[in-house]
Amino acid sequence: MPQLSEPQPTDIIVFGGTGDLAMRKLLPALNLCDRDNGLAGDTRIIAVSRDGLDDADYRAKAESAIREHPASRGAGTPVPTQGRFLSRLHHISLDVGEDDPGWEALAAMLAGREERSRVFYLAVPPMIFGRICRGLSTAGLVTGTSRVVLEKPLGRDLPSAGAINDEVGEIFDEAQIFRIDHYLGKETVQNLLVLRFANMFLEPVWNSRWVDHVQITAAETVGVGGRRDYYDGSGALRDMVQNHLLQLLCLIAMEPPASFGREAVRDEKVKVLQALRPLRGNEVAARTARGQYTAGRVDGTEVPGYLDEPGGNGPSSTETFVALQAEVANWRWGGVPFYLRTGKRLARHGTEIVVRFRDVPHPIFPGQSVDPVSAPNQMVIRLQPEETIHLHMLAKKPGAGELELRPAPLQLSFAETFAERSPDAYERLIMDVLAGNPTLFMRRDEVEAAWRWIDPIIGVWDASGPAPEPYPAGSAGPAGADSLIGRTSRTWHEEELPR
Ligand code: BG6
Repeated sequence: MPQLSEPQPTDIIVFGGTGDLAMRKLLPALNLCDRDNGLAGDTRIIAVSRDGLDDADYRAKAESAIREHPASRGAGTPVPTQGRFLSRLHHISLDVGEDDPGWEALAAMLAGREERSRVFYLAVPPMIFGRICRGLSTAGLVTGTSRVVLEKPLGRDLPSAGAINDEVGEIFDEAQIFRIDHYLGKETVQNLLVLRFANMFLEPVWNSRWVDHVQITAAETVGVGGRRDYYDGSGALRDMVQNHLLQLLCLIAMEPPASFGREAVRDEKVKVLQALRPLRGNEVAARTARGQYTAGRVDGTEVPGYLDEPGGNGPSSTETFVALQAEVANWRWGGVPFYLRTGKRLARHGTEIVVRFRDVPHPIFPGQSVDPVSAPNQMVIRLQPEETIHLHMLAKKPGAGELELRPAPLQLSFAETFAERSPDAYERLIMDVLAGNPTLFMRRDEVEAAWRWIDPIIGVWDASGPAPEPYPAGSAGPAGADSLIGRTSRTWHEEELPR
């Protein structure tokens, strides 16, 4: 991983400082960064919101949020909030309208500390990114070493993403802009790069000669909860595929970068996105499937259907599940299907990548060719909930009778192999922002290349596509996903995500 420079005292200004993301993710992650001495000197965290809190109110709110969301997976027992961390917290009331007196209050708070880095973290809806950036500039708060962190969604299509990038780009240089995709901060996601580029044995087989197809699945048991109004304008394709799943695809498919430098990695990822063969017209119906959950049972609890989630406004054709077949049209991957699938309210929670190798050209053992689909060579990389890599092979079943083959996985569990705690994705990414390292953040051209591939799919869906197919909460998703992969006589890998 990139070498991080020593943390320097920084002012971290969080717009949306009382929002869900700040409370559930950012403060718990910052608290852990502090516990591990990642926040230097008198680094301050200045929450900005319209909530009219004073510092004491905010500290109390933050403390209970950290207790409620003790941070990261793998963090072990809840971290008791340290007094040092709470004393770093401040709150400024500011409505981001131009003449709001809050700008002066923020300027007064930052005055006299121009030499230290400033990180403006925009944990707010993207339509106000531009307004905030202009407000910061008008108030004279953007210094040469300032950075701005943008949370997704970055637009809802290519034109809107371009407009947001333009607005932010008027005030900040590209090198100052950190676009977060929190999947890139996940430990196993970074491990993908190490797996591929620090080990020699994979490279010769990592191409269309040896790989039959790739599956990338992000299955969630949660529904949209109280976010239905956001989600109705988004759907699974925009919410998960445009960013998280395509980023995973990039890491699997990219060429080896010349270095682990900030631009070298991103240059290779963007080439993958540019090589995605566009899906147009009838291909969209043939290569995509979408669904929407109805009422059902998840983990033993009755849950409502999407249309009955709070915050909804009547009927909606928003997809809560999507499966699609992509192709990276280049020499390494031409002809290899990449199947992507994600959905909410599925039977199991889990994110995994399956690299399925081709069958042997000629079976010599009795029984070997009986059911090749059930026991292919494949590498299953689990990103969550547990972090494991399983290499599925065939072995001889012990016994003196007739020779029998059985699947036998080689198993690597990160939790069992390494004693160290896995940092939470946000913890890792915040540390990278503080160190000024953008390698694991999305560059403008990456975000826009991803939209360029997604937009035509949405266009066809909106114009003529069939409505999302209903699937009961707690199931494996709509039957259309099986038909999609079944068209090429393949099946989804369900061993760890049972139907
Ligand atoms: C977010 C999406 O980006 O990622 C959510 O907006 C989704 O809808 C979440 O639930 C999934 O993240 P994770 O880390 O739980 O897989």
